[in-house]
Amino acid sequence: VIRSTVLGSGSYLPATCLTNEDLAKKVDTSDEWIVQRTGIRQRHVAAEGEYTSDLAFNAAEAALANAGIKAEDIDLIILATATPDNTFPATAVQVQHRLGINHGFAFDIQAVCSGFVYALTTADMYLKGGLAKRALVIGAETFSRILDWEDRTTCVLFGDGAGAVVLEAREGEGTVEDRGILTAHLRSDGRHKEKLYVDGGPSTTQTAGHLRMEGKEVFKHAVGMITDVIEDAFEATKLSAEDLDWFIPHQANKRIIDASAKKLGIAPEKVVTTVDLHGNTSAASIPLAIDTAVRDGRVKAGDLVMLEAMGGGFTWGSVLLRW
Ligand code: ACO
Repeated sequence: VIRSTVLGSGSYLPATCLTNEDLAKKVDTSDEWIVQRTGIRQRHVAAEGEYTSDLAFNAAEAALANAGIKAEDIDLIILATATPDNTFPATAVQVQHRLGINHGFAFDIQAVCSGFVYALTTADMYLKGGLAKRALVIGAETFSRILDWEDRTTCVLFGDGAGAVVLEAREGEGTVEDRGILTAHLRSDGRHKEKLYVDGGPSTTQTAGHLRMEGKEVFKHAVGMITDVIEDAFEATKLSAEDLDWFIPHQANKRIIDASAKKLGIAPEKVVTTVDLHGNTSAASIPLAIDTAVRDGRVKAGDLVMLEAMGGGFTWGSVLLRW
């Protein structure tokens, strides 16, 4: 069987970092409130003239270097984002161009915070189907551009950034000992649109709009949805929480992460948390967390890693892979 095996990872954060204290000068909030409710201490924000494609390109270059392969060896680029440079063309095609690639194909995926999990799953299908041999999967966002900076209930939660992984189609034995993506489970349910959405767009207002969220409502659904798709992954592979080496969740909120890990019986020392440093970077949060844990030596070849995300739509999903 073909396994989509990870060759390397990379990430990029814009230089400007805003602490909770910095935000408290703009809106009526405090470091104490933000840390207590979310675990967030700081977030990075793109500079004027710095776009999602720039963050994505930098993360992609770092991932290629880490994987030890050249850009020309990539024949598929999937970029997950809810904040593309332009309505079209796809930001992925701009990244392809900047990498100097003009063979193969590139496209964007829009599943908000679940974007990276959707993109990995999609890349896995293309590799398994034989349509591509090596894929660059990127999550990149500039949420600072769609925040209402006067709304303290949302503007303190999000940040900008990008992360990427390189996948290669390799032959595996078809067992859970194989390196690569072992199983993926995606879900969505449009009944929840009003709980988390952007109040603009090309077809409705002809403006980019601003993020709107009923935080409490999102929180109420998050843990149940996350744990459901993780249990689906365990059932499909006959693996359990004890078998995991690392749990790398979407980084929205420390309370959601901790509650999910506790409900699943995942030991706290196996949980990779970067929300304190990055805030919620939507589709970029998982590859940013992955790259953090790869570079500090936690995640190593052969480790069993569970990824999960939940976000606007709602969309949610899990990917279980052996690094
Ligand atoms: N600073 C100070 N006070 C604030 C702030 C702020 N930044 N924001 C809200 N408050 C106030 C509210 O006005 C309210 O005041 P009131 O009681 O006088 O009306 C009080 O704090 C409590 O507000 P709640 O909304 O009830 O606070 P809650 O405990 O629900 O925490 C939060 C809010 C952090 C948004 C939480 O609901 C949450 O994390 N939800 C999940 C949302 C999320 O992570 N979404 C990300 C996208 S989806 C995903 O990625 C999973």
